[in-house]
Amino acid sequence: MGTGYVGLVSGICFAKLGNNVICVDVDEKKIDKINKGITPIYEKGLEELLLKYKKKIKATTDYSSSINKTDVTFICVGTPSKGDGSIDLIFIKEVAVEIAKIIKQKDDYHLIVVKSTVLPGTTRDIILPLLEKHSKKKIGKDFGLAMNPEFLREGIAVNDFLNPDRIVIGAYDEKSKNLLKELYKDFSCTIVETSLSAAEMIKYASNSFLATKISFINEIGNLCKKLKIDAYEVADGMGFDKRIGRAFLDSGIGWGGSCFPKDLQALLALTKEKNVHAKIIESTIEVNDLQPLKLIELLKKHIPNLKGKAIGILGLAFKPDTDDIRESRAIPIVEKLLKEGAVIKAYDPKAMKNFEELYPQIEFCSSAKEVLDSNATLITTKWDEFKKLDFKGKIVIDGRRLKEAETARIYEGVSW
Ligand code: UGA
Repeated sequence: MGTGYVGLVSGICFAKLGNNVICVDVDEKKIDKINKGITPIYEKGLEELLLKYKKKIKATTDYSSSINKTDVTFICVGTPSKGDGSIDLIFIKEVAVEIAKIIKQKDDYHLIVVKSTVLPGTTRDIILPLLEKHSKKKIGKDFGLAMNPEFLREGIAVNDFLNPDRIVIGAYDEKSKNLLKELYKDFSCTIVETSLSAAEMIKYASNSFLATKISFINEIGNLCKKLKIDAYEVADGMGFDKRIGRAFLDSGIGWGGSCFPKDLQALLALTKEKNVHAKIIESTIEVNDLQPLKLIELLKKHIPNLKGKAIGILGLAFKPDTDDIRESRAIPIVEKLLKEGAVIKAYDPKAMKNFEELYPQIEFCSSAKEVLDSNATLITTKWDEFKKLDFKGKIVIDGRRLKEAETARIYEGVSW
């Protein structure tokens, strides 16, 4: 249920593992595309897999036929943030009610698995009661319930699904757990078996920890910059310590995307509701909010008055290999530049269409090279194709450590 990043990647990968999969979504346009062998989102390697396993994958808007023809339903709908940062459960509740109404009529046992990111307690205290109430059936006997968080990174989600570090299975009972383990039988990684709520918390704690790691190294990076130390050398040196690890210690202009910002806000809102003082999560967010502006500070060292100046932006997606601009660090940078009266020239290999919907007033270039024809250029996403650019003679302020840009006439890295 749900054919966003998580649902579609999981569905197509489960088909690759030999299962028959039915992808369900309310959006008919998406369903049509999937049935034509086109993925509605850009994700490396996904469309190729969809075409290869086409016979095992169907897409439909019909909940009933899909639940009646299958043994397991994964709930993969979005759990967006409300204005106050708390999580909005409207879609997941709707889907739970729909599923319940259908299992009411179904004779066979059915396993329901929550894959959407939901706060600890949601599956047990909200989804389960909805399923029992609307199906008039009994958990354990007529249907099973599990929580199986995803750890997929956009852009490399297929690889992450097929080569996970671990699989977390929070299950209501042994029967649910064993059925879900059966689906993951071909994986060699550790399967972590937990309660429903611990599985939910593992997801939030993991994302918050990773975001904290990035904000931490950004704070160290800000100090490194003042001391003329390369924060990447520091990260490399720290990374060899097995207790620390090198991953997610790339300093720069911070984290964006559809997951970290939303999940940290939701966790923070939960700590407030439960009266828990969450200084680290709060600071992780605060450091991240300030970090993109460091790039503008460095730019102003070289061009103090930005009014009327042409400023190039290389990269609009929240990270490379995706067209996703949600919470992209390029957004606060563009906002600030517009406020200062700069003329923005931007390029991104995949995300320009999405960005244009938000900022039609900026100039979108047809190539990265064209962007360099500005008074100064900011690097905001580290796309591979930027490595080939000729930066000689330019002013470049780098937020993502593109080594090749060091040949610029004036080059400043945000933390190196
Ligand atoms: C993140 C997690 O990494 C996944 O494990 C998780 O499943 C997913 O959220 C989710 O909750 O669904 P994703 O948002 O796709 O995945 O992107 P990441 O690769 O984690 O990058 C997030 C942001 O952090 C990006 O803006 C990236 O540029 C930034 N980042 C990452 C850094 O600034 N430094 C780093 O060292 C690593």
